[in-house]
Amino acid sequence: MRRPFIAGNWKMNTTVEEAVSLVSAMASDLRSETAVDIVLCPPFVSLYKIREMIAGTSIGLGAQNMYFKDKGAFTGEVSPLMLKALCRYVILGHSERRQIFGETDALVNEKVKAALSAGLTPIFCIGETLEENDAAKTGEVLTRQVREGLKGIPAGIEVVIAYEPIWAIGTGRAAAGPQADKTIGLIRTEVAAVLGADAAESTRILYGGSVTAANITEFIGQPQIDGALVGGASLKAAEFSSIVKQAGAIKASP
Ligand code: PGA
Repeated sequence: MRRPFIAGNWKMNTTVEEAVSLVSAMASDLRSETAVDIVLCPPFVSLYKIREMIAGTSIGLGAQNMYFKDKGAFTGEVSPLMLKALCRYVILGHSERRQIFGETDALVNEKVKAALSAGLTPIFCIGETLEENDAAKTGEVLTRQVREGLKGIPAGIEVVIAYEPIWAIGTGRAAAGPQADKTIGLIRTEVAAVLGADAAESTRILYGGSVTAANITEFIGQPQIDGALVGGASLKAAEFSSIVKQAGAIKASP
């Protein structure tokens, strides 16, 4: 049984003050949910403060990126050691990092390995562009991203994977549940090829891309989909709480 996992990717939104208000508005709803692993991923500058706010609860905390070196002359970067002191999770290889900041599969792989050796759990993101989807290259692209991104990682270690078709991110055009389920099934097969069948069976694979309170049940009800990486809708306290509650209710029902 894979425990449902819902993460909020706040992206480059919220000042520290706004982040505090957002967490205050959702914390009591989230605290009462016991069937779902919940992770908030605010901007770096709010991690310290939010860590204090959620201390003693089961709400998890994650960063949105990191460099793969522990320290040194890398102006503007944040290291695994710095994050380890603040949070448990880190989003790596998000399509915005790949597309806007030019991150390659090889760089993302360095980051995944560095996160794991620091004891962080990566939320490793993959997904195809609209052109790749139209050209029926989705399988090829995802296979490459999984094989390159997870290359050389030790067995028996936890990675969370987020499948986010790029054409569905921030567009209001979510994938259809059964289609996402099928693709995530293929991803699980690739994970088995890289990490082994047991690891593939226990790895949580999320769907991401225009998830809302209105469509979460379409995804979470699918057998291969273990949760969601939520962008825009995670910035609205009531909506994010509703997504989490619905995910808990569906996965808890027989
Ligand atoms: P969205 O973003 O929910 O706003 O589409 C998802 C993501 O990029 O993680």
